[in-house]
Amino acid sequence: RTFQSADSFKGSVEVPGDKSISHRVLLFGAMAQGKTKITGLSKGEDVQTTARCLQALGVSITNTSEVVTIEGVGLKGFKAPSGPLDCGNSGSTMRMLMGLLAGQSFTSTLTGDESLSRRPMDRVWAPLRQMNGQITLTNERFAPLTIEGKKLRGIQYSLPVASAQVKSALLIAGLLADASTRLTGKIKSRDHTEKLLPYFGVVVQDDEYDITIGGGQKLRGVTYEVPGDPSSAAFWLAAACVVQEGAVSISKLLLNPTRTGFQNVLARMGAKIEEEIVIETPERVGKVVITGGKLKGVKVKPEEVASLIDEVPMLAVLATYATGVTEVRGAEELRVKESDRIEAVATNLRKMGAEIETFPDGFKIKGPQKLTGTILDSFGDHRIAMAFAVGALGASGQTTIKNCDAVNISYPEFFETLKRLSSG
Ligand code: S3P
Repeated sequence: RTFQSADSFKGSVEVPGDKSISHRVLLFGAMAQGKTKITGLSKGEDVQTTARCLQALGVSITNTSEVVTIEGVGLKGFKAPSGPLDCGNSGSTMRMLMGLLAGQSFTSTLTGDESLSRRPMDRVWAPLRQMNGQITLTNERFAPLTIEGKKLRGIQYSLPVASAQVKSALLIAGLLADASTRLTGKIKSRDHTEKLLPYFGVVVQDDEYDITIGGGQKLRGVTYEVPGDPSSAAFWLAAACVVQEGAVSISKLLLNPTRTGFQNVLARMGAKIEEEIVIETPERVGKVVITGGKLKGVKVKPEEVASLIDEVPMLAVLATYATGVTEVRGAEELRVKESDRIEAVATNLRKMGAEIETFPDGFKIKGPQKLTGTILDSFGDHRIAMAFAVGALGASGQTTIKNCDAVNISYPEFFETLKRLSSG
């Protein structure tokens, strides 16, 4: 696909339902007793992947116009699948299913695409093993993997990486265990599992330094509207800052503080952002209005990284438009996402004529720098494709991005919206 520069980026938009929450409500709806009715579920491929895996495990999921209905089977009502479960490109699907399937009474195999097969699964394997989970990985780290369902025991575990996928897998496994499970260590990552399980009727003790969940608790079906995805909204907030005249309003947006890091950083860079909270529980939802302006470089603290982890590629591109140094450190997790996002961003920015210094755990960019349109690659990574499509709005000449279909992973309508809001 090719992209031109734009003078203005203006309008109102509702972004797709949050991807992280969509995976979780599908899973929890399946684990519940009774029906769960969801509106606003993400239509991206990753979430469809979770739905298909659950269907292969005997869960009925039906889709009428805007409502998705899940017939819960209860914690242990899943059926042995007739073949391997394909998790596609979705780390969330694979890692959370590992937690769920470790405690069932059958054997299952999980596979993924080329990218997912390169991502570390031992981070879920190790604690699940302590819970008596029996999982065999490829080369001790990767998918394809086979899970032999077992009776799980509750554990105390200190998380060595701030990963919400690992944390969620263990909380799900904790529900299937014989006693309570207590998590400590790096638990400060997106907390949708901790917030949504109570909405399904589960007691979760969520304190600053530990999270405890009792085994055997039943979930009951709910009705829920999934709020808009801040990781998708980030592209429009950034677009408003890349062009000369930018102003965007986003309603029904998830404003959970574990996910608003990008907004906070943009505000520090000098963008004008107004927030109006409309709903508080189980998740904070509201409206955000941004007016672009001159940006200045910003230092992102390592402890902030988890709250904007998926938005860092967009931030890197934006940094070339800001005056002064932007530095992100403590973000080594970026190397094991859908692509090595530090490398992908650096390769594309350099192709556009920009300078970037990379580190094992981040990068440094001195702005402002002129971006020149050229031929780029998404490296099959949805967020890289979108970040550079937005970057192209302020670049000179024409930018071509290869493998743009990757956007379907999280945001199928991305290009339509990009076109609708940009002009000039
Ligand atoms: C997610 C957690 C993050 C994030 C991913 C979605 C989730 O990954 O990057 O896109 O839904 O829990 P990690 O948990 O691996 O940090």
